[in-house]
Amino acid sequence: MFLAPADCPFRAADQILKSGSHLGKMIVVDVHAEATSEKIALGRYLDGRVSAVVGSHTHVQTADEAILPKGTAFLTDLGMTGPKDSVLGRDVESVLHKFLTGMPSQFKVATGDVRLEGVLITVDEKTGKATAIKRIQEKIPGS
Ligand SMILES: [Fe+2]
Repeated sequence: MFLAPADCPFRAADQILKSGSHLGKMIVVDVHAEATSEKIALGRYLDGRVSAVVGSHTHVQTADEAILPKGTAFLTDLGMTGPKDSVLGRDVESVLHKFLTGMPSQFKVATGDVRLEGVLITVDEKTGKATAIKRIQEKIPGS
């Protein structure tokens, strides 16, 4: 959704999982997508078939980490690693200039107060099912 042109991620996942034997027990799916509903739906669709489904692209970490009913770890969006005092990692003033004037603007990369965001997922190596998911948000010392 919103990132056309793209193949259907549901059918693409089916196709990859069916082709199967080259895949290990632990399978992590990164859903690089815009719509939270689509990421959540794909997580539910793949529950029990993969170890984890985690979203990316929107840069804002969500707080809905869970082990889904059939054993897949899930988080709608991992967040980003980059400067917190920013607009998605870009310098605030240069982004505001574009919104306020409608004119093209080069988005400078922001600096300082870098945060590392993501998740730590524990997977049972025999079953490939997730047993824990912990959201991570750490300040990088010295940034
Ligand atoms: Fe992206």
